[in-house]
Amino acid sequence: MRPKFIAGNWKMNGSLSSISILLNSLIKGIEKTNLSAEIAVFPPFLYLEQVKNLLSDTTISWGSQNISEYQSGAYTGEISGQMLKDFNCKYAIVGHSERRTIYNESDITVSNKTIAAINSGICPIICVGETLSEREHNKTRMIIERQLQAVISKLPSPLPKIIIAYEPVWAIGTGKNATPDQAQEVHNFIRSQLAYINTIFAEETIILYGGSMKPSNAHTLLAMPDIDGGLVGGASLDAAEFLKIIES
Ligand code: PGA
Repeated sequence: MRPKFIAGNWKMNGSLSSISILLNSLIKGIEKTNLSAEIAVFPPFLYLEQVKNLLSDTTISWGSQNISEYQSGAYTGEISGQMLKDFNCKYAIVGHSERRTIYNESDITVSNKTIAAINSGICPIICVGETLSEREHNKTRMIIERQLQAVISKLPSPLPKIIIAYEPVWAIGTGKNATPDQAQEVHNFIRSQLAYINTIFAEETIILYGGSMKPSNAHTLLAMPDIDGGLVGGASLDAAEFLKIIES
């Protein structure tokens, strides 16, 4: 049985004061729920110290929104896996569609970042997803397979723990989520791809859905057999909304 996992990707949002308010409400809200899911938040790098201090004695985990593919050296503006480890990051998001499109990250870069995370003892959350035009041209499976293979073909042995996030690009920040059936179909396809490597690995790997997940659709999405949780953007910035998704 895979545990449920709800992740809040804050993107480039927040301040010292707003993060303190958000996390204190989240901690109080989670104390009241009978929680079986793992919860993790992903602040901008600068706030990792603050998040670490606020969450150290709680059950909430945290991670980074990005990670350098390099270990150290002349890479101005980059943050390495070891640096993230210094701040007790348990997870790192890699290959988010905003990184792939706005910052031109290729499949190879995403694969290198995945390996950098694994080598630093950080579990990568690898994002894959098709654009609207790719979906309309029936290329969803082809795109997902390409993005996934670039990463999983390079995984070391024994297979490390990874998390996959299926995030259809057309659903991110648009308010337009994939239907539970559309998401389930792709999640099942992702799991079948993982099964080519190892069936136990496929069964155990958590696959998150991301893209306009909110309290009104979380329950039906999370009820699908291959949807193990959510990577939540906008709705994770509001404690009440995020808590409702967690309760789902
Ligand atoms: P959204 O973002 O929930 O605001 O659509 C999801 C994501 O980008 O991870």
